[in-house]
Formats: sequence, C-alpha cells, structure tokens
Amino acid sequence: MGLYSRYILPHVINCACGTRPIERQRKKVAPLVEGVVLELGFGSGRNLPYLDPQKITKLYALEPEAGMRALSVKAAKTAAFPVEVRSEFAETLDLPDASIDTLFVTYTLCTIPDPASALRATRRLLKPQGRVIFCEHGLAPDAEVQKTQRGVEPMWKRFAGGCHLTRDVKGVLESGGFRVESSEAMYLPKTPRFAGFNVWGVARAA
Ligand SMILES: C[S@@+](CC[C@H](N)C(=O)[O-])C[C@H]1O[C@@H](n2cnc3c(N)ncnc32)[C@H](O)[C@@H]1O
Repeated sequence: MGLYSRYILPHVINCACGTRPIERQRKKVAPLVEGVVLELGFGSGRNLPYLDPQKITKLYALEPEAGMRALSVKAAKTAAFPVEVRSEFAETLDLPDASIDTLFVTYTLCTIPDPASALRATRRLLKPQGRVIFCEHGLAPDAEVQKTQRGVEPMWKRFAGGCHLTRDVKGVLESGGFRVESSEAMYLPKTPRFAGFNVWGVARAA
C-alpha cells in the first residue's frame, strides 16, 4: 500500500463524504437502522451521529483498509452503543448466519471491486426479516451525464480509492440477491452531477 492510500486518501474520502448534501442524505437513511447492525465500509464513521442509540443493540463496523480503519476506531469510541470494528472484507466476513437485523451501506457499493459478490456473501448473515438500508451514488439517468461519468471514471477511480461513477445501484443490489422494496433518487444539490446522482432506500433478501 502506498503512502497516499495509507495516510492521505482516508482524509480525502472523509472530507468528500462529509459535504452538507451528503450529510442530509445520511439523515434520511440512518434513522431506519435498528437492532444488530452490519455496516459495510464503515470508513470514518460519518453515519454515527445520525443513528438512534435507542434502536441499536450493536454495530459491526466493517473496514478493511488499514488507513481508514484508524479513523473507524477513533469514531467508534464516540458511539453511544457497542461498536465492533472489524478488518475483514465484506466478501470474507465471518459472522453467524441470520445474526444481523440491518445491513447498512452508504457510499460503499461504488468502491467494492465486485459489489454484487460482496452482497451475495453477506446475504446469509441477515435475519429473514432483516433489511438493507442503503444510500449510494451511481449511474445517472441522463445520457449526457452518463457520458461524463464514463469519461471521468478511469482517472477518478485512481485518486478516489477505487470509487466507480457508473454503478447501477439498484441493479447491484438485485444482482447481490436483494429485492429493492422502496427507493428514491435525485441529483444532490451543489454537487457535480457526474458524482451526485444518489439512490437510497430499503431492500430485503429476494
Ligand atoms: C467512500 S468510502 C465510504 C465510507 C462510509 N461508508 C461513508 O458513508 O462515509 C468506501 C469504504 O468502503 C470500504 N471498502 C472497500 N472495499 C470493501 C470491501 N470489499 N468490503 C468492505 N468495505 C470495503 C473502503 O475501505 C472505504 O472505507
């Protein structure tokens, strides 16, 4: 791992994930999170302030990148409920079957190299009535924005820790074995459209 990835990139991602429009998105989805929670790509813990401590029993904070995990550990100490920071990748996470009430994923399916495989691997962890609460950016509906996304993506990925701009968020969830129960979408205000098309909602195991 290079110095940029280990020491600089986590702070770049932390800032990029902390814009006011993104914080507003977190406020929309985080209150839906409950029970025993598995958050994929916990990062710097930007969702923590919006989670309801009354509703959460425990949160498994999955963060495989060492540099980012240092920020995860720091953030976990501020939580009003138990947070266990884990270093595994979503694809290889070792937790019991049907042990999770909420699979929580924000701005992470863009970065996981094969997000459908990662979701398929975590599906068994979810209780039968468990839900996926998600908020992601991805492929825009407008052809001219898509063109920009495809043009910018190769360079973007290199500097943004592998973040993709052209992922079809609902398609990824469906390929990962989930059925999207409800969703909303919009371009975030004050955000370049190529990076700002957000899709959020609730999914369940298909
Ligand atoms: C853009 S950051 C988003 C962090 C956080 N979810 C948020 O909303 O601010 C994406 C995170 O996904 C993590 N990640 C990448 N591949 C992963 C994988 N295979 N399993 C779990 N997390 C992964 C990265 O280390 C990074 O911290």
